[in-house]
Amino acid sequence: MLIINEISKTFHKGTQNERNAISSLSLKASDGEFITIIGGNGAGKSTLLNLIAGTHFPDSGQILLADEDITYLPEHQRAKNIGHLFQDPLMGTAPNMTLEENLSLAFLRGGHRGLRPGLSKKNISIFEEHLKSLDLGLESRLKTKVGLLSGGQRQAVTLLMATIATPHLLLLDEHTAALDPTTADKVLNLTQKISKEHGITTLMITHNIEHALAYGDRTLMMQHGEIVMDIAGEERANMTVESLLQNFKAQSGQNLTNDRMLLS
Ligand SMILES: Nc1ncnc2c1ncn2[C@@H]1O[C@H](COP(=O)(O)OP(=O)(O)OP(=O)(O)O)[C@@H](O)[C@H]1O
Ligand SMILES: [Mg+2]
Repeated sequence: MLIINEISKTFHKGTQNERNAISSLSLKASDGEFITIIGGNGAGKSTLLNLIAGTHFPDSGQILLADEDITYLPEHQRAKNIGHLFQDPLMGTAPNMTLEENLSLAFLRGGHRGLRPGLSKKNISIFEEHLKSLDLGLESRLKTKVGLLSGGQRQAVTLLMATIATPHLLLLDEHTAALDPTTADKVLNLTQKISKEHGITTLMITHNIEHALAYGDRTLMMQHGEIVMDIAGEERANMTVESLLQNFKAQSGQNLTNDRMLLS
């Protein structure tokens, strides 16, 4: 379980550039829960994931993952348990290494050891099986350099690398925003499948409200570093893009705006 207790984060405190990014935010996510997060530009969505990943530390508050206090644990020490994906499909993989080499690195990070680490016959057949499940024909391209794959293929491989060692937590920061709509749908379905099959708690930021309501189990809306809406179950199932936007306006007196937002 992920437990966040009243975390706050202000960047450049006491200077002209002071930015209050997260304000006394609390959140509990149960094991295997898939939460989608929406909100306008600068609402604090990426900062929230960065605090959980350890890219930044909060000024106050506490973050617990599987009963361990990870609030100030260095980023590399939590990387084994936390997968973090970003918008740029080029970020998560090494372009000059082959598909099997990339997957081996991810496999090793999960603590798997061997004489020739990661590249045994057994491991390769595990990789082939995982790649088959992506349904992108990549299982026959293990010796291909990853730099030769398309953006969607690379993001699917990044997702696989982030989850091959079955982390506790998957943090997705608009990971399909740079993909064309068909590929984005494929990667989103894959995300949902991997999250459910392995029971990985997932936090997914998206600027697409329709996706936020369609994927996962629960949706949060953020504004000014706080969670201003938290819906699940029937309330969420009955929520439309239209009513969500109306709710936001009624609550905040503003229109929800995000330069990357798709309102259809
Ligand atoms: N590394 C940083 N240094 C300084 N200020 C930052 C940093 N990261 C975020 N901020 C500031 O914190 C606030 C929240 O930013 P954040 O990136 O978390 O928003 P967001 O909800 O992800 O927005 P977007 O939808 O545009 O991605 C903003 O005011 C931003 O300028
Ligand atoms: Mg962001």
